[in-house]
Amino acid sequence: MDFFDEIKRRRTFGVISHPDAGKTTLTEKLLLYGGAIQEAGAVKSNKVKKGATSDFMEIERQRGISVATSVLAFMYKNKKINILDTPGHRDFAEDTFRTLTAVDSVIVVIDVAKGVEEQTIKLVEVCRLRSIPILVFINKLDREGKDAFDLMDEVEIKLGLTVTPLSFPIGMGYDFKGIYNLWEENLKLFNPDDKQKISQKIKFNSINDEDLKDILGIDLINKLKEDIDLILGVYPKFDIQKYLSGHLQPVFFGSALNNFGIQELLDCFIDIAPQPQSKSSDVRDINPKESEFTGFVFKIHANMDPKHRDRLAFVKIVSGKFERNTPYLHVRQNKKLKFSSPNTFFAEKKEIVNVSYPGDIVGLHDTGNFKIGDTLSTGEKINFKGIPSFSPEHFRYINNIDPMKAKQLEKGINQLMDEGVAQLFILNINNRKVIGTVGALQFEVIQYRLLHEYGAKCSFENLNVYKACWISIDKSDAKEVDEFKRIKQKFLAKDKLNQLVFLADSSFSLNMTKNKYSSIKFYFTSEFR
Ligand code: G4P
Repeated sequence: MDFFDEIKRRRTFGVISHPDAGKTTLTEKLLLYGGAIQEAGAVKSNKVKKGATSDFMEIERQRGISVATSVLAFMYKNKKINILDTPGHRDFAEDTFRTLTAVDSVIVVIDVAKGVEEQTIKLVEVCRLRSIPILVFINKLDREGKDAFDLMDEVEIKLGLTVTPLSFPIGMGYDFKGIYNLWEENLKLFNPDDKQKISQKIKFNSINDEDLKDILGIDLINKLKEDIDLILGVYPKFDIQKYLSGHLQPVFFGSALNNFGIQELLDCFIDIAPQPQSKSSDVRDINPKESEFTGFVFKIHANMDPKHRDRLAFVKIVSGKFERNTPYLHVRQNKKLKFSSPNTFFAEKKEIVNVSYPGDIVGLHDTGNFKIGDTLSTGEKINFKGIPSFSPEHFRYINNIDPMKAKQLEKGINQLMDEGVAQLFILNINNRKVIGTVGALQFEVIQYRLLHEYGAKCSFENLNVYKACWISIDKSDAKEVDEFKRIKQKFLAKDKLNQLVFLADSSFSLNMTKNKYSSIKFYFTSEFR
């Protein structure tokens, strides 16, 4: 198979959902179809269990699982599928946002009874802003839930999408009878006893099949015919270009737990979902088909063994072939690095790989060279865009409580920040360190890991900050800028890239500051240029 065919057959995507909608179950069933696992229950949920906030062993257990499930790759009908794991817990939302920079499309899972939930709204918004193709899977049809049409309305309104169903349920809950596949124009009947197996479902190629009348009854068939007429009349016809450009989102229905409606989803997905896409860099757009290798780090995972502080950096290959033992340029450090044991991921196993292609993820052992967002290339000096930092929600001073271990603390903090566990800001006025996180849980993770991996003890101290704002300055008004820097001195800090950040203490004071200094712009994300 030549290089271009390898690119064409790759599908790299993420499954996103609000916790409990069925992301893990769906992922597991997709793997089952790929033959990558033999039985249900093999993929462990990586969610932080309810009430586990102060259970450190639970956090460690989760970290262990999330190494194994970071990338789940398998072959299905000669396509190479790479599923990138996205944590559902809101405290790890930034991890998910970063992973979304490495996917070419997403599947959004929605619980039929709960409808569109908070975390889904946030994640879909990020996908929409980046025009990532989205496919919607409405799950748990074996339970009573919302009416399918109402739910599609809700998806359109709350998620700002334009949907068109490609499959449609016949009944729901106790009366769930099957799925009509509008993509292939056939129908499959639901049998709850099939639960965990991939058995041949009873399939009808036409809704007018006489046998179907005996099984479903004329009333249900007429209702289905009406539903299909309504769908064809009301929803836009599926158009692959619109889907690929993020303007139309196909919807599938099913039950992941009962393994129903999943094959329809997967078969359609491999046909329509995008192959690896171009990515913008600060210099130019990089096309996957270019022969020179480029890639970027979107995730760093610390080793679970505290004695070996090496880490695994996850690199998405954007263009060219990645080859083992070949020197590549680490652009930020301007030095060449060679990787003797790059890992590839197959189902849940890691293996050493000799060659990987665009769309693939390789895991590189790292002793501290990488930060999230770093670019690798055969030699061109480019930096991929699109891994912004978002303003944290919680801010605390971090204090050293063991003066003998200052170095260890410093090293630990830097490495955890490189991993993207949280963000570090250094106050201009007194050089104190402020840690910003998305959720309160991260402070406990940081404290625990600093102690166990670096032998450093720290304490946190509250700091009243509402948002961190990255700022851009119109230098033509030097007087105003000087005044801003002088008067707001105690609110100014530097981020990890030495960029100036304004730590606003309330939304009111932020608005006042914005109004007062018109030559300065304030942003809640680090990537505004
Ligand atoms: P998540 O990764 O999105 O957080 O969700 P996960 O797959 O862990 O599923 C959350 C719960 O929903 C699980 O039950 C799972 O079995 C159930 N579930 C998933 N798909 C379906 C479905 O199609 N129908 C029904 N009825 N339930 C479904 P749990 O009791 O929380 O966990 P478990 O003990 O079953 O693992």
